[in-house]
Amino acid sequence: MTALGTLLSSVWFILPAYAANMTPVVAGGGRPIDGGRRFVDGRPLLGPGKTVRGFCWGLLAGFCVGLVQALLHPSLEPRLALLFEDPWETVLGGFLLSLGAMVGDTAGSFFKRRAGVERGEPFPLLDQLDFVAGALLFSLPLVLPRLTLGVLAVLFLLTPPLHLLTNYAGHRMGLKSRPY
Ligand code: CTP
Ligand code: MG
Repeated sequence: MTALGTLLSSVWFILPAYAANMTPVVAGGGRPIDGGRRFVDGRPLLGPGKTVRGFCWGLLAGFCVGLVQALLHPSLEPRLALLFEDPWETVLGGFLLSLGAMVGDTAGSFFKRRAGVERGEPFPLLDQLDFVAGALLFSLPLVLPRLTLGVLAVLFLLTPPLHLLTNYAGHRMGLKSRPY
């Protein structure tokens, strides 16, 4: 596969996770997942930045992206090396990628709180990659036969700068209080 082909199929594959991760910024808020509870270390379990509404809307947004991808699967298949084999696998994959992204993002906050990092304070690389790692882990059973080192490299190298860029854009649009 050409480098451009790898880039395109990687981005297409991870799109539901990107959608899931971005949605809570605009759709989140309300009741925190941890209900305000603290861990044994006395720090917040997850913190108020992880809400039930954000999690659910993120999951739904990613799932919808997967549905659209499934509809487009037959026409894209001859042109692009798709990681999901057929439209049904794309639907299931979109769900698993989104769920994994939200779980990964939540787990990231758990680790940040354990490390004593306050809600919203930066934790380089964990902030940018927790959701991708979660998405990959959850979708691994489906994509393992077609996953290549090239795809992994694209996902882990491209996501941090892309994440910073979208966060900066979100900040400029007044959606995020912090530019990172
Ligand atoms: N968000 C949400 N529910 C989630 C995830 C995110 O409501 N499950 C919203 C919150 O408003 C959050 C914003 O999306 O502030 C950005 O998410 P993120 O950067 O992951 O959270 P932080 O505020 O940086 O908190 P943390 O330090 O725990 O990562
Ligand atoms: Mg953050």
